[in-house]
Amino acid sequence: MYPIARPYVTIRQLCALLNILKYRAQTVEDFENQFATSVGRAYACAFSGGRVAIQKVFEALEIKNQTVAMPSYTCLVVPYAVELSGNRPLFVEPKVGEFGTTAAALQAVAAISIPTHMFGKVRDQPVLSPNTLVIEDACLAFGSKIAGRAAGTLGDVSIFSFNRSKQLSCFGGGIAVTDRRDIYEKLKVFAQYHATFWDEVAQVFKSFFFWWFYRPSIYSFLKMFGSASANVTDFSLGDCSLDKSYSKSFLKSQAILGLGQLKNADVILAERRRIAAWYDANLRNFSDITIPRLTPDVELSHYWVLLKKPRAIVKERLFKEGIAVGVPNDYSCPLTAHYAANYNPADFSVSSALASSIISLPFYVGLTERAVRQICAKFKQVYESV
Ligand SMILES: Cc1ncc(COP(=O)(O)O)c(C=O)c1O
Repeated sequence: MYPIARPYVTIRQLCALLNILKYRAQTVEDFENQFATSVGRAYACAFSGGRVAIQKVFEALEIKNQTVAMPSYTCLVVPYAVELSGNRPLFVEPKVGEFGTTAAALQAVAAISIPTHMFGKVRDQPVLSPNTLVIEDACLAFGSKIAGRAAGTLGDVSIFSFNRSKQLSCFGGGIAVTDRRDIYEKLKVFAQYHATFWDEVAQVFKSFFFWWFYRPSIYSFLKMFGSASANVTDFSLGDCSLDKSYSKSFLKSQAILGLGQLKNADVILAERRRIAAWYDANLRNFSDITIPRLTPDVELSHYWVLLKKPRAIVKERLFKEGIAVGVPNDYSCPLTAHYAANYNPADFSVSSALASSIISLPFYVGLTERAVRQICAKFKQVYESV
C-alpha cells in the first residue's frame, strides 16, 4: 500500500540529525537566509508551523479586531490562527467551477486578506498598497509561479509550511518571508525561542519515526494490522488546533533537514511533475472525474481528483484493493462546527461541493510509473463498479 504523501529525505540527510557537529555548524538563520533566497525574498523568519507564522504576523504588526478575508475552502487552521490573534475571518467563496478564491475577490471585501494558492495553483496577483495588508498563503505552492513571479513573493508577507504533506518538508515547521524590513524586524521580536534540548530530541525521534512509517513496505505492513490511519494528511478537523506542540519554535534539527530539502528542491519538484504527468496520462480520458490541469506554473501539492460518485464508497472499496486515498480538506470552513451557527450553508455551496467530492491519490517522490499505473487501474476499476 502506498502512503498518500512522503517527505523526500535521504537516509544520509536523516542520519545527519544525529551528528552533534551539525548542530554547531548550522543555524536556523542559515536556513531562513537560504529559504528567503530560494524564494526570491529579502527576509525570512521561521516558526513552529505555517499556522503559527500567520498568527504571529498579526501579533507582530499589532493588528487586532480586524476583519480578514480568506477563502472558504482552505485549511481550517488558517481562520483559527486569525482568531487566535484576536481578529475575525470573513469567508469568500470560489466561483463555480473554480478551485480557490482569487486575491481580487478577497481584496474587494476587506483591507486585510489571505490569498491562498489552493493545491499549488496561483490564481492571480494581489494588489499591494499602503492601505492594505496581504498575507499570501503559499503553504501549498512552493515553486509555483504566475506571470514569471514566484509564489511567496506576491504578498506583503508570505507564508510556507513544512509539514509532512508539503512539497518541502522538515516534518513540521513554517516560515514567513517578506521584502519589508519593518515587518521582518517586528516578526523577529515575535519569533518563538522556547525549544529545549529535549524538544530537539523529540523532533529527531519524530523525523526518524515518520521517515520509517511512510516507507511503503512498513506502511503496508502496519495497514495489515489496521494500525495506520487511512488518511495521512494533517487536515482532519481533530488535528486543526493550535495546541502545545506549536508553542515551541522552529528547531535546529528542522533547519538541518530544511537545508537538505533546499539542496534537493529542484529534484523534488521535477520528480513530482513527472509523477503528476504519469497520473495525467492514465486518468486524462477517464470520464466522470475532474483532475488537475498540468501547466508549467503549477507545482501540485496534492494529486487531487474530484469525484461525481459517492466518495465514501469509492474510498472504502479502494482501501480494500490496497489503495489508500486522502481527503485534503473535507469541509468548507464556515460550515464547520466552530463557525456553522453564523453562516448559511446555501452561501457556501461551491466550497461544500468541492469538499465533499475531493480525494487525493498517493503523490510523493519515489512513486514509480508502474505504481502510478497500478493505482490508476485500480481506481478506474473501483470507480466504475460504484
Ligand atoms: C493552505 C494552508 N495554509 C496553512 C496551513 C498551515 O500549515 P501548518 O500545518 O504548518 O501549520 C496549511 C496546512 O497544511 C495549509 O494547507
